[in-house]
Amino acid sequence: MDAGGTRIVRVAGVPPGFGPGWALARAAAMVVLLVAPGAAAAAASRGGDAIEQPLAPGAADPLRGRAVALGRDGNCLLCHGLADAGRPTGNLAPPLDGVGSRLSGGQIRQRVVNPALVNPHTIMPSYFVVDGLRQVAEPWRGKPILDAQQIEDLVAWLQTLR
Ligand code: HEC
Repeated sequence: MDAGGTRIVRVAGVPPGFGPGWALARAAAMVVLLVAPGAAAAAASRGGDAIEQPLAPGAADPLRGRAVALGRDGNCLLCHGLADAGRPTGNLAPPLDGVGSRLSGGQIRQRVVNPALVNPHTIMPSYFVVDGLRQVAEPWRGKPILDAQQIEDLVAWLQTLR
């Protein structure tokens, strides 16, 4: 496939478990980062850039959100950097620092719920969408990685990263 003159290498779904395909995923991430602006523009033109409605009715708690991101439920720092993480972080994805200034709450929610809508080639897992996923191990089929309240807590925390 070709987008904006950049060649895209298509990689079949990389499972969140990071097995032997890790090196491939790493290479794919670099390609993804190169083509991301084009893909984001395409998503925006489809009107799929943001989810404005909260997924859960309860109050969102940024501190709980941070715990989800740094803990095993979200495991976001496997790929993303975070300056005050207090431990080594991944470098396969843009640092989360400043994301609250770069994106609106709705745009952040969209990227956590289903990042593939913004970039179909992303290696980031869909944390709340179960349709259309491939290579999902049996016990996890049909179940989102995070629940609606965890997504809202995450969105609240990410918005504080200015
Ligand atoms: C397997 C690696 C991986 C994991 C795990 C991951 N992400 Fe991502 N994420 C990415 C990549 C790569 C991008 C860059 C955009 C793309 O691929 O389309 C990204 C983009 C984002 C963006 C948009 C950032 C921007 O500045 O535009 C947000 C927000 C985000 N991720 C949040 C999260 C959160 C929250 C978690 C944990 C719940 C998480 N990510 C887990 C790989 C990952």
